[in-house]
Amino acid sequence: MSVGMPISALWPEPSAGPLDDAAIAARYGRADHPHLRVNFVSSIDGAVAVDGYSAGLSGEPDKRVFGLLRMLCDGLVVAAGTLRHEGYRAVRLDERRRAWRREHGLAEYPTLVVVSGSLDLDPAQAAFADAPVRPVVLTRAGAAAPPGLTDVADVVPCGDERVDLPAGLAELRRRGLDQLLSEGGPLLFGALTAADLVDEVCLTVAPLLAGPGPGRITAGEASPVRHLPLRHVLAASDGVLMLRYARD
Ligand SMILES: NC(=O)c1ccc[n+]([C@@H]2O[C@H](COP(=O)([O-])OP(=O)(O)OC[C@H]3O[C@@H](n4cnc5c(N)ncnc54)[C@H](OP(=O)(O)O)[C@@H]3O)[C@@H](O)[C@H]2O)c1
Repeated sequence: MSVGMPISALWPEPSAGPLDDAAIAARYGRADHPHLRVNFVSSIDGAVAVDGYSAGLSGEPDKRVFGLLRMLCDGLVVAAGTLRHEGYRAVRLDERRRAWRREHGLAEYPTLVVVSGSLDLDPAQAAFADAPVRPVVLTRAGAAAPPGLTDVADVVPCGDERVDLPAGLAELRRRGLDQLLSEGGPLLFGALTAADLVDEVCLTVAPLLAGPGPGRITAGEASPVRHLPLRHVLAASDGVLMLRYARD
């Protein structure tokens, strides 16, 4: 498997040297029960974006782990805000990662899941139009789909006033999507936290001070403070840290 900028384990046990993709993937793994993993990148001072985009925080090590987390999941959950703003493209994996999935009895690609209350979505966006697997859109009852959306995605109402996330996740699991990866954004993360649905947080800390201005990786409604135990610390040779926190 590929070796880019070296990534080593620091904690709980330092690795003897750089980890290859297989070793990194093994450290994240798949749970043996339904599981929601959330992945974000942030600056040292907690910024969710630089100049409005996460790209300003992300380098090669983060992208490598980002791709491996996609390889490991059944469903890739993203909020409509991030899908629109970041111009999400179709979820593609290279042949090595598709082969890994086949060897592990998984579908060749994860299913993209979009959370949108408004259904203000563009069916021509590549995330839908070029998707290798038909995406699922979780929405609320009464939301009107724009023309063409139901041609390219399964639109699933759950909840009346807003998207009912526990009901939405139950529907995904009914479809066999047990291992879920959420790539955000902050409002969705805040809502998942408030509903106590977050089993794991993978956080890349970029060695940058972004200064005041950008928001945090979480937003929206308040929720009780919860403890999430640290499970591992990986470090890239450029000083990027990759932290994994998960509940028991
Ligand atoms: N640093 C990182 O790792 C990272 C990751 C992702 C995003 N970002 C950044 O985050 C920013 C985008 O964030 P955002 O403010 O647009 O938030 P967001 O969480 O990406 O999107 C919010 C949207 O999600 C939909 N939604 C539907 N039901 C929801 C529910 N129950 N709870 C929460 N959201 C629900 C709504 O879409 P409708 O309007 O369609 O109803 C809502 O407007 C961008 O700057 C992006 O670059 C950074």
